[in-house]
Amino acid sequence: MSDKRILLIIGGGIAAFKSLLLIRVLAKRGIKTTTIVTKGGQEFVTPLSIGGLSGEPVFTELFSLSDEAEMGHIELSRSADLVVVAPATADLMAKTAHGLANDLASTTLLATDKRVLYAPAMNVRMWEHPATQNNIETLRVNHALFVGPDEGDMACGEFGFGRMSEPEIIANAIEKILAGATALDNLQEKPLQGKHILITAGPTREAIDPVRYLSNRSSGKQGYAIARACAALGADVTLVSGPVAIAPPHGIDVVKVESARDMLAACEAALPADVFIAVAAVADWRPADSYENKIKTDKQSIPPLALTENPDILQTIANAKNRPALVIGFAAETDNVVQYAQGKLAKKNCDMIIANDVSGDVMGGDDNTMIIVTKNGADMWPLMSKQKAAEGLAQKIVEMLN
Ligand code: C5P
Repeated sequence: MSDKRILLIIGGGIAAFKSLLLIRVLAKRGIKTTTIVTKGGQEFVTPLSIGGLSGEPVFTELFSLSDEAEMGHIELSRSADLVVVAPATADLMAKTAHGLANDLASTTLLATDKRVLYAPAMNVRMWEHPATQNNIETLRVNHALFVGPDEGDMACGEFGFGRMSEPEIIANAIEKILAGATALDNLQEKPLQGKHILITAGPTREAIDPVRYLSNRSSGKQGYAIARACAALGADVTLVSGPVAIAPPHGIDVVKVESARDMLAACEAALPADVFIAVAAVADWRPADSYENKIKTDKQSIPPLALTENPDILQTIANAKNRPALVIGFAAETDNVVQYAQGKLAKKNCDMIIANDVSGDVMGGDDNTMIIVTKNGADMWPLMSKQKAAEGLAQKIVEMLN
């Protein structure tokens, strides 16, 4: 049994309930927990429930500590091996980054000479806000460590980074630091670590003239979801994206392009890769003539629109000298879905074609039914969110690479 002790600071966030589980996980691993819970934190968990689980004192107010001389805010962290802030709210981190101290939690964070581990939890936009990111950078420079936040569905109904890491993962981080680690990686299994995955997503735009273009209804949602799912499993992801209204995902190398020809060039430049996934709805044709100036509308006749074929990005990469080990294409069809997908598998030299019926509102929508077509046959997945489908595909890639 270890004789380690942490000082846990519980901030005011819905994730505070997970901190109760954290106390239990730590107790099982022989780590004792003294707790400070902020005023906001007490809106979510009570000192009584915290004390009941930890069997140790719980502190709430700066001026109500029973013996200020012995158990003041300085002594509190002195008797701990590590200070852990979970959930670490944007407010608590901002205060500490700027040296503000107006309650027991912030005073203790300013006074401590111990390592501090933050487990942030907040809405995705609060997390991505430059103010929060700057504060985190300041804390990092001052040797703070961070676990999470993770990506996923949030209590506010949004999706993205901001979920507090699971108690087991925070406990793993705590044990690593208590064992002397000064950096935190590999807390989670990352089966795609070291793999470079190249993904295309979104539509392409084919210019008619400087202001007009040909395109399609692709939203990029499925491709972006696959990129996030692969990155979550540790892959090094390059996402070559046509114009979409989705923010660039955290930790992914996004290359923005417009036309099919630019998308192909960006893909070729991103090789070598272990896996190529062509999710983009590439425009099959582009205007044969390009106009340098806007075509005038005062002409007597409507200008003719001659089209020419675009390069097939999937087929080109699948036949490249440095072909990725695994090449996956999509087949959006409105009829004879599996049959067409099987034809495409051979024609485009792919290892897998994911067929989907786009006769409904798949394009632009949030859900998808995928049919996984390989040379071994077709496997139809039930209707699910594009994110869940992406997670399933990432797992499938892990299996296929093994
Ligand atoms: O032949 P079809 O357009 O149905 O093929 C779809 C698959 O091929 C998708 O994976 C798509 O990303 C890819 N594709 C491509 N370049 C094109 C056309 C399609 O990479 N010019």
